Amino acid sequence: MKKFRNNLFGSLLSISTFFVCTAQRKTVEQKVDSVLRLMTLDEKIGQMNQYNGDWDATGPITKDGDKQNQIRKGMLGSMLNVTGVEHTRQLQEIAMESRLKIPLLFGQDIIHGYRTIFPIPLAEASSWDTATIRLSARIAATEAAAAGVQWTFAPMVDIARDPRWGRVMEGAGEDPYLGSAIAAARVRGFQGKGLGNTDALMACAKHFAAYGAAIGGRDYNSVDMSDRTLFEIYLPPFQAAVDAGAATLMNSFNDLNGVPATGNRFLQRDILKGNWKFKGFVVSDWGSIGEMINHGFAKDGYEAALEAVTAGSDMDMESRSYINNLSRLVKEGKVKIQLIDDAVRRILRKKFEMGLFDDPFKFCNKEREQRQWNNAENLRAEKMIAEKSVVLLKNENHLLPLNKQTKTIALVGPFVKAVRDNLGFWSYSWPDDTVRIVTQFQGIENKLGTNARLLYAKGCEINDSSQAGFAEAIEAAKRADVVIMSLGEASDWSGEAKSRSNIHLPGVQEELVKAVSMTGKPVVVLINAGRPLIFNWTADHVAAILYTWWLGTEAGDAIADILFGDYNPSAKLPISFPRTEGQIPIYYNHFNTGRPATSDSDRFYRSAYIDLSIYPKFPFGFGLSYAEFTYSNIHLSSSSMRANQPIKATVTVTNTGNYDGEETVQLYIQDLVGSVVRPVKELKGFQKIFLKKGESKQVSFTIDIDKLKFYNSQLKYQAEPGDFKIYIGGNSRDLQEAPFSLK
Ligand code: BGC
Repeated sequence: MKKFRNNLFGSLLSISTFFVCTAQRKTVEQKVDSVLRLMTLDEKIGQMNQYNGDWDATGPITKDGDKQNQIRKGMLGSMLNVTGVEHTRQLQEIAMESRLKIPLLFGQDIIHGYRTIFPIPLAEASSWDTATIRLSARIAATEAAAAGVQWTFAPMVDIARDPRWGRVMEGAGEDPYLGSAIAAARVRGFQGKGLGNTDALMACAKHFAAYGAAIGGRDYNSVDMSDRTLFEIYLPPFQAAVDAGAATLMNSFNDLNGVPATGNRFLQRDILKGNWKFKGFVVSDWGSIGEMINHGFAKDGYEAALEAVTAGSDMDMESRSYINNLSRLVKEGKVKIQLIDDAVRRILRKKFEMGLFDDPFKFCNKEREQRQWNNAENLRAEKMIAEKSVVLLKNENHLLPLNKQTKTIALVGPFVKAVRDNLGFWSYSWPDDTVRIVTQFQGIENKLGTNARLLYAKGCEINDSSQAGFAEAIEAAKRADVVIMSLGEASDWSGEAKSRSNIHLPGVQEELVKAVSMTGKPVVVLINAGRPLIFNWTADHVAAILYTWWLGTEAGDAIADILFGDYNPSAKLPISFPRTEGQIPIYYNHFNTGRPATSDSDRFYRSAYIDLSIYPKFPFGFGLSYAEFTYSNIHLSSSSMRANQPIKATVTVTNTGNYDGEETVQLYIQDLVGSVVRPVKELKGFQKIFLKKGESKQVSFTIDIDKLKFYNSQLKYQAEPGDFKIYIGGNSRDLQEAPFSLK
């Protein structure tokens, strides 16, 4: 490394060397300006151009077979999906042969880990533990940055109220408050102590905006929503990401009220770069500039480039609309050079902040890459985070935790010995996956050693109609003291372009649960999935259910810890679980309507279905523990508050169970009368507390004016005097309440 740098800087009297020597005392802005002044129009447009490297493609790749030459000519600002130090270095070396030697930026989807794979983001969100989530992003950044990556296309901060949407797995669920806290944590985790450090990745909050509201949950679909819903539900996590210092944003595939996000000036110019004063740059989603032709918003690449650049899309990912059309647009006076300069300035600013002009190879260090390759500490952290992500949905008669002395255990189901399925979508596959990933079978075997006899039967495939394996599963169950069944959807059934109309447990898996349950043996079910699934029979008949999502490299050990009581589950659902697809969208922070449905016994002539409960199967915020928590004595420091006089809400939480445990105490507020109708409740705070068995704690939340604000019909963010209710509890349904007013 050192040798190379000496050669490079010693032998080339380059313009970048000139920058290094003379620009040291300059501010980043001055440095950017001095580069910009030297650039031709084509070189500027080159900075706005991004191509895919050699890895997976999530969209059509435009091939001209001449990427390297374009890099040499300064026609490329960034690449995605180039992996490994060696390859990154090769391409960066070519960039150093270009006239101005402007370094390339290398981006990749580091969504939930790079080498060590962490739980899928929706699973991590279930931890409601921002410090833990930040740590996961921190480790992912450290590993990826050691392998040449400088920029992650994460976090995805799209709110999602529709579990049919495959990309629900990538976000933090349905709630803007929780989503914002997690968005900020992830940005801080990825960016670490700040851009310029060799273990920091630039974050990219995506997909701006409202992508998660695709109609019908169909990926890439249109979005149609009021500005108030946009501001209140879908934009807050983006704003939180920007406030946390996100270096970049990615726009989205969808149109919003008829205008594709990529060509949307309101979103990108007015809100993001205007109101929010965002100084980073916006990258398009894969090909989304060119896709405006399909949308019917642009006639051809020329118009698409015009719309996108005018709207504030700074970098074109893989559509080649900019590289092929911007120059002509400028020459014909359709696009002012100031627009181009603004975009290029934003991109160069980040390259300077990353320190790439000082050392374009700072992320290419083979030793660092190797050090991160098998980092045992990272694996330990992954297990800890995985444990915090598992939601205990049911535990009748305290079936869990299981006794480690149990003699014979039947392990049944298509996920017991699954390997890569433990990782979930958006994870990298490495040749040694089979050795590194701890399967659930191995995890249990590691835990119990020779103490127990483990009987294994697959029972059925994930999505097959054959019941041929049932007999073996039943036989194993009969011989066992307890049955652990591991079920779910395949890991590539959620993720991009993985929307599903049917989100029931697939194939004959629920039939298998019925057949095994008929043995009368106690059954514990693990559900592996990238979204809320529907499994009503299982939920109603089986004694214990753990929703494990996709937990990552250490899945098996983490699950074994929970099953056998070495970790007491503490996670809470970040999204409501529907009873049927017909109930979607179902979310806790809905409006009351003029005919509110308030109970299942009173749902006629109400805002409800006549053939279905008004409740989700499992509500937002729900999750059990081996401990039991009771809430009492909610009280307020005053029953009225003023704008400058916050009040305090306090509740007593007692661990009345037989285990020490962690609880997430949730605060919701309802504004009873507003100039526009307000949700029945909105999450406005949460705290995680640890209680020993028998212990009580008072938990307090400060209610200040900011917690009461909302967007009125003029989109002004303000609080209105009047009556409110506070709710505190362990999920969005079982709550203690107290009234107060804002004077
Ligand atoms: C996805 C983005 C992703 C990009 C690059 C697109 O298809 O929507 O989220 O970052 O591909 O892989």
